[in-house]
Parts: sequence; C-alpha cells; structure tokens
Amino acid sequence: MKTINVNLEKRSYPIYVENGLIKEIPSILKDHNKDQKWIIISQHRLMEFFGFELMNQLKQAGYSVDYITVPTGETAKSILEFNRIISQMIEMKCDRSTTILALGGGVVGDAAGFVASSFMRGIDYYQIPTTLLAMVDSSIGGKTGINIAEGKNLVGAIYQPKGVFVDPTILESLPKEEVVSGLGEILKYGAIKDATFFSATSQHLENIDAFPFEDAIARSCEIKATIVSQDEREGGLRRLLNFGHTIGHALEAHFGYGQIRHGDAVSYGMISAGWISKELGLLKKDDYKTFKQSILRLPLPILNKFDPVSLLPFIKNDKKTISGQLHFVILNQIGSADTTEKVTDELLLNSMKIIQ
Ligand code: GLY
Repeated sequence: MKTINVNLEKRSYPIYVENGLIKEIPSILKDHNKDQKWIIISQHRLMEFFGFELMNQLKQAGYSVDYITVPTGETAKSILEFNRIISQMIEMKCDRSTTILALGGGVVGDAAGFVASSFMRGIDYYQIPTTLLAMVDSSIGGKTGINIAEGKNLVGAIYQPKGVFVDPTILESLPKEEVVSGLGEILKYGAIKDATFFSATSQHLENIDAFPFEDAIARSCEIKATIVSQDEREGGLRRLLNFGHTIGHALEAHFGYGQIRHGDAVSYGMISAGWISKELGLLKKDDYKTFKQSILRLPLPILNKFDPVSLLPFIKNDKKTISGQLHFVILNQIGSADTTEKVTDELLLNSMKIIQ
C-alpha cells in the first residue's frame, strides 16, 4: 500500500492508495474506533455498489455505523440538503465524537466535509473518493463547501479530513467517459510539477485500457499533498493547482454545469493556458506543440460553438480573481508553472479561439 502524507502539523493525515483498499478500511481505522457513531454519507447508487458492503464489514468489526444518502448532482450541495443532513444526524443522536465517512465523488466529499466542519463546531471525517477527479484532487486538501443562489462553493471551509482512502478498482464500475475526463487532471499535475510524469502519462493515453491508474493516482496525490502541505490556504503555491481552471470553469459556466465534464473543460483550459504561456514568451514553441498534442490524445468531446467574448464575464467573476486581479497560471516549461497578472483580455480572447 502506498501511503502519502499531507504534512500540516496537528492537522496532518495520510492518503492511502491501493487496489482493493476499501475492504481494508475497518482494520486501518480500528485504533480510531472508540465506540463512537460512524456515519457514511453517500448516494443511493454508491451505497448499493460499495456502501452497504463497507457498512457490513464495519459492523462485523464492531463499529456502530449508520448512513445518510444525498441526491446525485449539485443538489447535494444546497443549503436545504445541508439542513436535512444535520437534522438527520441529530435524529440519529450523533454527537461531537461522531465520525463521518464521505463515500462519493467531489460533490459528496464537499458536502459531507462541510457538514463535518460545522456539525457541533467540527467533527472528524474521512474521504473515500469514488471518481478519478475526487481521487486525485477534491478529496485532498480540505476544501469543503456548498452552493448558494449567487454561486458555487460560496459558503465553505478549509477543513482537513483525518485520512483519505483511494481504491482505484472503484473506477472499474464507472462509465469510461467519466474516468477519461479525470485523466486531464492527472496530466495537469505533470504539466505543473513533473515533466517526466507528464510525458509518461501522455504516452499511456495511446492505450487507455492499459492505463496504470494506481501509480498515476499515487503520483498525482503526492504532488497535491506536497503543494497543500506548503500552502494550505491558497496564498500562493496552491494557486498552481488551478492551471487550466480559469478558462475551464468559464467553459463550464457558459455551457451549463453538467453539460461539459469538469475534467474535459480543464483539458481545453490547459490548451488555452499553454498557448498564452507561449505568447508571453515563456513556453517554447516546440514545447507548446508537444503539450497541446499530448492533451489532444485524450478523447475530448467536440466543443459546441461559442463566442469567447461571452466567456469573459465568467473569468472576471471567478473566485480566483482577487481584488479585480486575475492570477493566471502559466507554464514556464512543461513541469514548471507560475502565476502571472499580465494576461490581458485580448490574450484571453485569442487563447479561446484556439479551442473553438
Ligand atoms: N482543487 C484545487 C485545490 O484543491 O486547491
């Protein structure tokens, strides 16, 4: 089993990565079972696939465990759902010792993590991610939150889990397109921090059926853990994780959430950001060409026609824009990223023409 540590002094925690890991959870957690109530927060479908089995194994090992389900999609991150989960936990007689197991993708992890951050002023929780995106990104680093009418994730907290359990075999039960969309985030880690990993990942894209998920996920988690350990609250270094996300989020907001997968939008966003890096004289022309060709090895969906001008307001309103200043993530070279404030509207507009 690969164990990667997020080093945050008293809030440090391990990320375990191993095929078949879900079955090991009761024994790994046994020293943390002090007769408290454990609550699995998940979705119906995921409970049927993995949750009930996990619950049975925990019960057999002597844990007191119950579960709460949330709807699929962003509805799970509404204030109404937040209220409902909290009320259900009170009804179940949960208290300050209760521990949450968040079993799901990013939406479940964000919602359950936010419940953990606020229930009785904060209780322990663990992440058990079930999508590739959650395995390499959202389950690590403690970003939790819910949505309000004015925007996504506008209410939330940075609240670290006590551990993350990543079982790559879970991916076998997912639709292939969903897994493929997460591969863009794996390429992102190589692009910003590890050129060798970027190139190896891109070679593997030629035969996705033989993709080495366990190793690639572990390396991605290592990169994310190193960054979060140095900059938990996104004062600087952690911003690099937003590579490809400025234009990616704008594409998602323009086309409508759920109309384009997050990972696919980020992959297109990375191509635009790579182009901007080249135009700023940072990324060499040949490297940009290699970079773009590598990303285009992903079977990305063709984007519907869009007018780049209509994406600009989404970029300006993004949470990454601080005091009106866009901190845009660029590449100095493949494997090395930085932020710049020099990206003009004209550059942004032209970079989107590349992906139209
Ligand atoms: N998803 C980016 C971060 O966790 O900072």
